Amino acid sequence: MARTPMMAGNWKMNNTIAEAVVLTQEISNQYEKKEWDEAVEIVLCTPFTDLKPAKTVLDFDKVKIKVAAQNVYWEPSGAFTGEISVPMIKEIGCAYSIVGHSERRELFGETDEMVNKKVKALVAEGMGAIVCCGESLAVRDEGTTLEYVTAQVRAALAGLDAAEIAQCVIAYEPIWAIGTGRTATPEQADEVCAAIRETVAEAADAETAEGMRILYGGSMNPGNVDGLMAMENIDGGLVGGASLKAETFVQLIKACL
Ligand code: G3P
Repeated sequence: MARTPMMAGNWKMNNTIAEAVVLTQEISNQYEKKEWDEAVEIVLCTPFTDLKPAKTVLDFDKVKIKVAAQNVYWEPSGAFTGEISVPMIKEIGCAYSIVGHSERRELFGETDEMVNKKVKALVAEGMGAIVCCGESLAVRDEGTTLEYVTAQVRAALAGLDAAEIAQCVIAYEPIWAIGTGRTATPEQADEVCAAIRETVAEAADAETAEGMRILYGGSMNPGNVDGLMAMENIDGGLVGGASLKAETFVQLIKACL
């Protein structure tokens, strides 16, 4: 089955609204409708404050680039100071939200159970979840990466049916590769992504697993994207640093064509 590749830029906590509009416009200006429209799904995962400004630029330019949140809360409304709900990001025009990024797990105590609640809230609203998983260097060094990562995926998808799981995208981001310039080798990444695909097959069914986009994240850049995208089980990237410059992000998009 041919899976439409996805290139998603996780801006993390970067770009004021003025900077977000400039970056979004720079990317939009390079959009090649004939080549990109059906060939790749492009997603800008901006800070909450930049979602509407970025969407406004993209809508005005009529380019097929989506916006996504980097996090979301699972309750639809209520006394949850500081949180943002799924209906709120849906109203802005988000197609997805990232959930379970390692920085949220490590810095903000996000658990597998919380990730699962967020995934359920997103798919219930007909939105997509970009579900992050990935091991620390300690886990990799002790040789339990596959067990660790597949357990994260199993927990994130618990209680969802095949149709709901099909609304998700999985992003494998080895923690030791995030922001370090030390990228997983294509073989290392593909081994884990293959195990993730098997886990999706167990949680849903073979067809859903075959259609699932599994992204790689962790120092992906124009110098290593081709080797990663050549792998059977890698369907794109969830990109941090290299998504903050239009020139490099567009090179990564072109690597999906
Ligand atoms: O979510 C993507 C991010 O964690 C990867 O960051 O800077 O290593 O591409 P970076």
